[in-house]
Amino acid sequence: MNYMRNRVYFFTGTGNSLNVAQMIAARLGDCEIMAIRKRADLDVPPDLDRVGFVFPIYFCGLPGMVVDFLRNAVFPAQANTYMFAVAAFGGLIGNALPQIKHLLQDKGISLDYGAGVRSFANAVSFYEMKKNVDKITRKADKRAQKVIKAIAAKRQRKIGNGLKQIERIYQQNIPQFSERAKAYTVNADCVSCGICTSVCPARNIELANGKPVFGSHCEACLACIQYCPKRALNDGEKTKDRRRYTHPRIGHEMIAAYYQENE
Ligand SMILES: Cc1cc2nc3c(=O)[nH]c(=O)nc-3n(C[C@H](O)[C@H](O)[C@H](O)COP(=O)(O)O)c2cc1C
Ligand code: SF4
Ligand code: SF4
Repeated sequence: MNYMRNRVYFFTGTGNSLNVAQMIAARLGDCEIMAIRKRADLDVPPDLDRVGFVFPIYFCGLPGMVVDFLRNAVFPAQANTYMFAVAAFGGLIGNALPQIKHLLQDKGISLDYGAGVRSFANAVSFYEMKKNVDKITRKADKRAQKVIKAIAAKRQRKIGNGLKQIERIYQQNIPQFSERAKAYTVNADCVSCGICTSVCPARNIELANGKPVFGSHCEACLACIQYCPKRALNDGEKTKDRRRYTHPRIGHEMIAAYYQENE
């Protein structure tokens, strides 16, 4: 089988990470974009030129599904493959880069480069969405271009070992994510379009009688609530009066297409 020379894996809720992955792929050329979602292909091909991971930050660390992917993936010997990681974070990058460095080390892989791209903070369960989407997007794009230049040049960047206090924040919050969607409600504005199911990386939503029903393996990515065109989904009362956010260049169809392609 012939593979493209470069591969970038992404995990996303609202499109920020996919946007960075697409920018990387466009700059590098000959680059395959692969989704990290439940039942993703775990075999990383040998002899690639570059392999990268792009993801959001959840409670100062990696999304649970990215951790699972890295633990379960089958990596060939690293040889000359340049490995990189980019965190599309909202304001506090925390320990995510040390965490991915250690997870790769466990597989005998060394991370050559890691960096953050400050992006729109999307956690609508916790706070209101900012209004200045265009300005934040422009700034994120500018930063992403710098990071991509470094990746194209195969620059090396040492990543530290992280902070214990921050690790505690992550450990306290991450295990509770799987049941989060149990608090989500659907109102009468739902038009049974199925968009929420199509953007869920965890395959945690099914339509029953045309209405979403949530399972017990939520990643708390908020894609369902944010992409719902009717604002019919809410996290209890918390999100009812808050604005919604999705990346301006990443529509729900685009995310769904990657998920279907990587089936
Ligand atoms: C549950 C949850 C927790 C989050 N925690 C953090 C955090 O600790 N630090 C941070 O910088 N951003 C945090 N964010 C914001 C996202 O990391 C950020 O908006 C990211 O760019 C979203 O990427 P996406 O559009 O690819 O999903 C959090 C978002 C969610 C949904
Ligand atoms: S995205 Fe919204 S309108 Fe569409 S099925 Fe889901 S809840 Fe209903
Ligand atoms: S149920 Fe919603 S918040 Fe949970 S993983 Fe699926 S899309 Fe994300």
